[in-house]
Amino acid sequence: MTMRRIKAWMTGAAIAAGFSMVGGASAHETLELTAPKPNLAAKPPMGWNSWNRFACNIDEAKVRAVADAMASTGMKDAGYQYVVIDDCWQTDRAADGTIQADPVKFPSGIKALADYVHSRGLKFGLYSDAGVKTCGGRPGSAGYEFQDARTYAAWGVDYLKYDWCYTGTRNAEAAYTIMAKALRASGRDILLSICEWGDNQPRNWAAKAGHMWRTTGDIRDSWDVSQGYSHSFLSILDRQADLWKDSGPNQWNDPDMLEVGNGGMTATEYKAHFSLWAMLAAPLIAGNDLSTMDQETHDILTNRDVIAIDQDPLGQQARKVIDEGDFEVWVRPLAGGDRAVVLFNRSLAARTMSVNWETLQMPTEMKATVKDLWSKQVTRKVKGSYSAEVPSHGVVMVRITPTV
Ligand code: GLA
Repeated sequence: MTMRRIKAWMTGAAIAAGFSMVGGASAHETLELTAPKPNLAAKPPMGWNSWNRFACNIDEAKVRAVADAMASTGMKDAGYQYVVIDDCWQTDRAADGTIQADPVKFPSGIKALADYVHSRGLKFGLYSDAGVKTCGGRPGSAGYEFQDARTYAAWGVDYLKYDWCYTGTRNAEAAYTIMAKALRASGRDILLSICEWGDNQPRNWAAKAGHMWRTTGDIRDSWDVSQGYSHSFLSILDRQADLWKDSGPNQWNDPDMLEVGNGGMTATEYKAHFSLWAMLAAPLIAGNDLSTMDQETHDILTNRDVIAIDQDPLGQQARKVIDEGDFEVWVRPLAGGDRAVVLFNRSLAARTMSVNWETLQMPTEMKATVKDLWSKQVTRKVKGSYSAEVPSHGVVMVRITPTV
C-alpha cells in the first residue's frame, strides 16, 4: 500500500468507527464529550424493565398493563418512574436504516406506546446494543448510533439501556462514548444505562458517558445458585463490596435489576435483596409483572423507609464493615448524619447480631433513635450498640439517628 492509500484507508476506517480525523484529532480527543452529561439521575433511577419476567416474550399490551399498574398500585407514588422495554422489541431496519419495531407485538408502534406511558405520568425506556446485533439477535446500533438516537428522541424515549453483545473487537469506552454523543445531540434528555457487565473496567470511563453501569453479568432469580453467565443474588452481592468509591449522584453502580416477586426466592430473601440493593444505592428497577403482583411483593417494592435509604441525597454506597462468613454488617452514611445499617444473616438458622457505635464511627456515649425499617419498631435512647434477632437468609435493616 502506498502512503496515500494507507491514509485513505485509515480515514475510511475512522469514519466507519465514528471518529473524526479532522485537524489531526487523536483517538483520545475524540473520546472527549463536549456536551455535558444531562443531570437525569441525581438519585438512583427507579422503574421497571421487561427482561427478568418476560425476556423476549414482550408486547405492547403487557407494557401498557405494567404502566397502568405502576400508576395505580402506589409504585409511582413510591418513586418508580421508568417503564423500560428490554430486548426483542425490534425486528429489522427500513431501507433508509430506521430501526423498526416488531409489527406483530407492537402494532401501534413505539411512539404510541411511549405516549401511553407518558399519559400515565411516567417515563419511557428502550433497549439497544453497541454491537451489530442485540443479545437476542435483533439489529444492534453499531454504525447507526446517531440515526437511532434521533429516532428514540422522535419517539419520546427517556432512557436507553445499551448492551454489549456482538461487539467483536470494539473498544467499550469508544462505543459507549459514541452513543452518549448521539443521545446528547438528539435534542432530548435521554438517560444512558450502560450494560457491559463490568467487563471493561467501567469505573475508569463509564461515569463520563452514562448515568449507571452494570457491574456484573445477569442476575438470576435465585438465592445462591449461579449458572454460567447468570449470577445468583448472593454472587452479585459479593461482587459489589469494593465498588463504593465509583458510585454517586448521576453515576451509579448497577448490580442489575430486581427479581423481587418472580418466585425463585422466599419473601424473607426478597426483603434481603431489596434492602441490600437500597444499601448499594442501586437503581431500583423492578423485574416482576406489576399487573399481577401479590400484596407481599407490592409491600416489599413500596417500602418507603427502605426506598428513602436508596434515594438518600448524599448518594453514598454502603460499605461492608463486618464479614464473618454467613454474618455481615453493611453501613451506609446518610445526609444529615444518620446511618443505615443492615445486619445480614446468610446462614440456615436465626441469629442475634449486633453492631456497635465504634463500627458506625459514632461516639460510644452517643444516644440514638433506631427505627427498624421492616417492622417499623422505633427504639429510643439506644447507647453503645444495637442488637436484633435476624431471620435465616434475612436482614434487619435500621436507620440510626444520633440524638442528644
Ligand atoms: C443481556 C443483558 C440483560 C438483557 C439481555 C437481553 O444479557 O445483560 O440484562 O438485556 O441481554 O437480551
